[in-house]
Amino acid sequence: MSVAAPPLLAVEGLTKRFGGFTAVQGVSFTVAEGEILGLLGPNGSGKSTTFNCIAGMLRPTAGSVRFAGREIGGLPADEVCRRGIGRTFQIPRPFRHLTLLENALLAAHYGAGGAITQAEAEARARDALRLAQLPDDAHATVAGLGAAGLKKLELARALATRPRLLLADESLGGLDAAEMRAAAEMLKRIRDERGITIVWVEHIMGVLLSVVDRVVVLDHGAVIFEGTPQAAQEDPKVAEVYLGPPEARAA
Ligand SMILES: Nc1ncnc2c1ncn2[C@@H]1O[C@H](COP(=O)(O)OP(=O)(O)OP(=O)(O)O)[C@@H](O)[C@H]1O
Ligand SMILES: [Mg+2]
Repeated sequence: MSVAAPPLLAVEGLTKRFGGFTAVQGVSFTVAEGEILGLLGPNGSGKSTTFNCIAGMLRPTAGSVRFAGREIGGLPADEVCRRGIGRTFQIPRPFRHLTLLENALLAAHYGAGGAITQAEAEARARDALRLAQLPDDAHATVAGLGAAGLKKLELARALATRPRLLLADESLGGLDAAEMRAAAEMLKRIRDERGITIVWVEHIMGVLLSVVDRVVVLDHGAVIFEGTPQAAQEDPKVAEVYLGPPEARAA
């Protein structure tokens, strides 16, 4: 008899309240190793808050977050990162006065908890920059990177921490159609070539549906749909949160 592998990430009953406001309520989902999961939902539906609770930027009010079989809910961000979860920020926040390589180097040391040599950190930093299709020489600077370049740098910094699970808060708004496609293909390549499991947060459905294996849709902090990208496109509840009630839609 074969036994199914336990999920790499298991979120159960995750709840986050800010004062009297519940931003995330009872969210549960799992992610299998090697999977790309799309976490979708309209603006303000709780996607980034869910990410921040997993990544240790926020302490969950209730619920459990298990990674590789161990509870990580409430651990600080640096500890979560060292255990193998890398994340990008929706709003890129590089060190603008440092080079691209220095930005990635800092991330490599952070992810390793300071336990690697400078040479090893540099190898990890260059590898991450190349994977994100950025120059890995010592001179390339942050100045001059456009919206797409800044997102690549976010990705490179997350990859330099050598994650087993990548939480990509992508938000492709601000990119043109070709840049969106390139960003989606890059995430797919990272999974295919490196076997890195990915949770991709996005509020635009379009290009995401072509690369994710499964979709979880949030609305007002709760899961309203979980299934294949195909089923998501046909689901009336998903259509309603994205397009409004049927009677209000243009014919
Ligand atoms: N620190 C905070 N304090 C109070 N309210 C917050 C805080 N962070 C988020 N919220 C609120 O929680 C809700 C969910 O926000 P969140 O950023 O998780 O949404 P999102 O799904 O990532 O949206 P977007 O697509 O715009 O990025 C929003 O109503 C937001 O205003
Ligand atoms: Mg967000």
